[in-house]
Amino acid sequence: MILKPNIALIGFMASGKSTLGALLSNALNMGFFDFDSEIQKNEGKSISEIFSTFGEPHFRHLEHETCKKAAQLKGYVIATGGGVVLNPENINLLKKSCTLIYLSAKPNSILLRAQNNNSRPLLAGGDKLDKIQTLLSSRKKFYEEYANIILDTNDKSENECLQELIDVISIHISASKAR
Ligand code: S3P
Repeated sequence: MILKPNIALIGFMASGKSTLGALLSNALNMGFFDFDSEIQKNEGKSISEIFSTFGEPHFRHLEHETCKKAAQLKGYVIATGGGVVLNPENINLLKKSCTLIYLSAKPNSILLRAQNNNSRPLLAGGDKLDKIQTLLSSRKKFYEEYANIILDTNDKSENECLQELIDVISIHISASKAR
């Protein structure tokens, strides 16, 4: 595996990409770039407003434009949105400059983290667990296929996940340097 200038976190909604990404960037003294924050800042609207006003295809277009920006970065931890894997061109862009780490989480762990948060239009209304299971089962294969590294976040505290991320990245860096 070749050493890349950025680390991109991929994974399902509420798997900890933004929270752990911010902590990781601090710990590694790297910049932090968050897809959803970037889109919200540029559009002056929340993700839910973008979905309800312009529809999901427009959001996916904005997400793709954000991938182009992210691909130009150097020295950043990048928290992607959960749907970034839906467009293979997004992954081609990210792979150019990022090591991809999949934060894997089971539906029940995701539900625990997402249940009091209404900022995710794809999980709004109806049975949240059902929505999580259906969407995750269609996306899991992409997360697994595209990841350079997979971190299991189930039953682990934020600090444990952070420490494991730091450890796995150090191993990755040493292995790359040894080549
Ligand atoms: C989405 C994930 C969200 C956000 C949007 C769509 C998805 O980001 O981009 O609601 O399709 O999985 P998080 O993964 O940060 O929740």
